[in-house]
Amino acid sequence: MSLLLPDPVLVANLVRDSYQRFQGITDGKNADYIPALAQVPPDLFAIALVGVNGAVHLAGDTQVEFSMQSVSKPFVFALVCQAIGEQAAKEKLGVNNTGLPFNSVLAMERLHTGAHNPMVNAGAIAATSLVPGTTAEEKWQFLQTQISRFAGRSLTLNEVVYASEAAHNRHNQGLAKLLDAYDRIFFDPLQATDIYTKQCALNVTVRDLAVMGATLANGGVNPITGEMIIDPIHCQHVLAVMVTAGLYEQSGDWLYEVGLPGKSGVSGGMLTVSPGRGALATFAPPLDAAGNSIKGQKVAQHLSTTLGLNLF
Ligand code: DON
Repeated sequence: MSLLLPDPVLVANLVRDSYQRFQGITDGKNADYIPALAQVPPDLFAIALVGVNGAVHLAGDTQVEFSMQSVSKPFVFALVCQAIGEQAAKEKLGVNNTGLPFNSVLAMERLHTGAHNPMVNAGAIAATSLVPGTTAEEKWQFLQTQISRFAGRSLTLNEVVYASEAAHNRHNQGLAKLLDAYDRIFFDPLQATDIYTKQCALNVTVRDLAVMGATLANGGVNPITGEMIIDPIHCQHVLAVMVTAGLYEQSGDWLYEVGLPGKSGVSGGMLTVSPGRGALATFAPPLDAAGNSIKGQKVAQHLSTTLGLNLF
């Protein structure tokens, strides 16, 4: 059932208004543990809202491409659910919030029975290890092709960001090796980390991201291409995990304010999904202490309220 968004003129005005309202905010700081992300101009700001009916509303720097980072995680989890089934995915990856930061080792030490989740780095690297393919190249080709189908166009690797993170990757490699020690990773840990680093470095625009999110809002059918990407049942599970853990230890605060599934990335990308209606994507690099885009959170809160999208 399509609930649709309110009148398109109203939505277009609200998107433009949100851009103007929050454009001047200068709080927060670009991620710098991936050196290439620190070089991105911090005042870039873009908003895209895509309805399940294919309506597209844009404001700001919408031509700028940025690396997906953790916003890739729900889509890889969706593809893993599609490939191995949602129960196997749940057993292998876990679906509960860790209550700890996205790259926490402590979470894994405490919860090594699998109760991490595919939104934090450890669970996401484990999810990547489950992607179809017998070699690293096959797995990467699968991911690049299938994530591109969510966007409805061929997404390319940001080589600079990939090289930058790959050269500073010992923490994620450590997480993957620890997963291996607990038998919670299902491919070579260093190769799985490398593929994960590539998926994080896929370039998107806010429009791409909003189309991808609108596909999750639309039961797995891309509203622009009309292609079925995943079965509807998997959208339910992916959105549930985004609600639980999409903003890591701040997921409760997010849900309280926005009332919708969300996912953030350290490049400053942020995705908010309104099931049955559409998706909002924002790009604004400065982050708060938990690694979530400051302007992105404000836009999501404002548009969720003004468009009446809060699920509760
Ligand atoms: O693995 C990392 O640390 C990055 N490639 C992605 C982390 C991330 O985006 C966390 N999100 N807010």
